[in-house]
Amino acid sequence: MKLYIVGAGPGDPDLITVKGLKLLQEADVVLYADSLVNEELVSKSKPTAEVLKTAGMHLEEMVEIMIARIREGKKVVRVHTGDPAMYGAIMEQIVLLKKEGVDIEIIPGVSSVFAAAAAAGAELTIPDLTQTVILTRAEGRTPVPEFEKLNDLAKHKCTIALFLSATLTKKVMKEFINAGWSEDTPIVVVYKATWPDEKIVRTTVKDLDDAMRTNGIRKQAMILAGWALDPNIHDKDYRSKLYDKTFTHGFRRGVKSE
Ligand SMILES: C[S@@+](CC[C@H](N)C(=O)[O-])C[C@H]1O[C@@H](n2cnc3c(N)ncnc32)[C@H](O)[C@@H]1O
Repeated sequence: MKLYIVGAGPGDPDLITVKGLKLLQEADVVLYADSLVNEELVSKSKPTAEVLKTAGMHLEEMVEIMIARIREGKKVVRVHTGDPAMYGAIMEQIVLLKKEGVDIEIIPGVSSVFAAAAAAGAELTIPDLTQTVILTRAEGRTPVPEFEKLNDLAKHKCTIALFLSATLTKKVMKEFINAGWSEDTPIVVVYKATWPDEKIVRTTVKDLDDAMRTNGIRKQAMILAGWALDPNIHDKDYRSKLYDKTFTHGFRRGVKSE
């Protein structure tokens, strides 16, 4: 008895993995969060598949359906937006399913954080500038643990990717400034990355909230912040050791610099 949890990717139906698509096409039952997963992707399931929208269901209701169908011997696939490991609320499903003897296989997906970085043409880890990315959210109605306040995390001055924070940008600005970020620190907001109505907004810490308002962005936005998002990064000469001709590593012997 098994449930497959499949990462759908950020929106573009072509961004699901080959393995995820294969499972979707083989499934007898498909459950998906209709508020986030692209219907065009779900329509690739077989015509006889039972396709269920979960946005209006509560946890127990959803899990009950999964268990009943799995016990009937059906192949059940649960599709989650992006990668299921990021704010996918999968663990609460897994706990209940395991109690009923159901095994789980998770197929990863392209998270919106990487789709947004791609849309922005950005590398989030720039040599000599930052080698760390923090994936987090601003605190709103959902509390954030004491040691994970944005104010504290931002003190690392690395790249920060904010999920679920589109309506909390006033607070985000305040916390970045409190953490010692300069007002001109670059930010890229990507609304609906990889969807046909994708929008890329380049701004700074100082102007973030205004930029969100001007562009009418209040949901489905990834906020990427830090100097790795500098629009002038191409004029600077940050280079990795990996392709440095004088650097020796496991696959290449470096040449002496003149
Ligand atoms: C419940 S979380 C799910 C995240 C998802 N598991 C992932 O890996 O992308 C929803 C949040 O992810 C971000 N998000 C999801 N899809 C997005 C997209 N296509 N473009 C920009 N942000 C997106 C937004 O911050 C949104 O508020």
